[in-house]
Amino acid sequence: MTKMKLGVNIDHVAVLREAREVNDPDILQALYVACEAGADQITIHLREDRRHIQDIDVQNIMMLSKVPINLECSINKDILAIVAQNKPHRATLVPEKRQEVTTEGGLDVVGLEDEVRYAIEYLHDAIIPVSLFVDPTIEAMEKSKELGAEMVELHTGHFANLFAMLNSSLPYSNHSIEELELPRYELASQLEKSLQELKIAAKHAKKLGLEVAAGHGLNYHNVHEMMKIEEIVELNIGQSIIARSVFTGLKEAVIEMKKLTTR
Ligand code: PXP
Repeated sequence: MTKMKLGVNIDHVAVLREAREVNDPDILQALYVACEAGADQITIHLREDRRHIQDIDVQNIMMLSKVPINLECSINKDILAIVAQNKPHRATLVPEKRQEVTTEGGLDVVGLEDEVRYAIEYLHDAIIPVSLFVDPTIEAMEKSKELGAEMVELHTGHFANLFAMLNSSLPYSNHSIEELELPRYELASQLEKSLQELKIAAKHAKKLGLEVAAGHGLNYHNVHEMMKIEEIVELNIGQSIIARSVFTGLKEAVIEMKKLTTR
């Protein structure tokens, strides 16, 4: 089996900092601690609304990181220009809506074919490899390859939601997901289906010559399912690691996730 890389997404450290508009917690401290604890890569998302990571964070992190930086961004031309200037080790194109809490669904590589092709060519001109954050469908894998991406990141959000509704106390909380308020047998069968979709998409992507990552909603309880899909060689995980770090410290939280994602 190929080694798994853990990309630690530190956006949520910046969320906490922006809540008070002070330089605390320090995003660079998060970078150092995550790397020291075994992160293979740091992932950050420069959103159009700058709700967490700021332009200056991208510059500082690029300058000081000892591990590769995966910079997530939308296909907005102003954002692409900033990404090109900063020259991350890779850019991951994601869909972005201002009103969303977090990225919902994969990039519509079929509907936005021309815009995505432009973004990929633009980033390639700046010698930046491109990953596309897409839903796990055969159509998205084929289109990603056709558009010239080097990599796909499979959106695991639906899988994670089903897993949480089936196995955690989420259904009995204020955060219950309305459309997934279903009988357990129905959740179990949908969860199995979503895992099959991820497996089939990962296999197909690898066959096409794409590298395969996965991310969104992965945590200490559900990540073992991703470890079973051997075509997946990278996981990008943020919220659950930063949430755990409130209680254990970031170093412990990364070490624990690294243990669960080592093969
Ligand atoms: N991968 C991508 C492409 C994302 O947009 C995000 C969220 O910013 C993540 C991974 C990390 O998701 P989470 O914070 O739910 O672990």
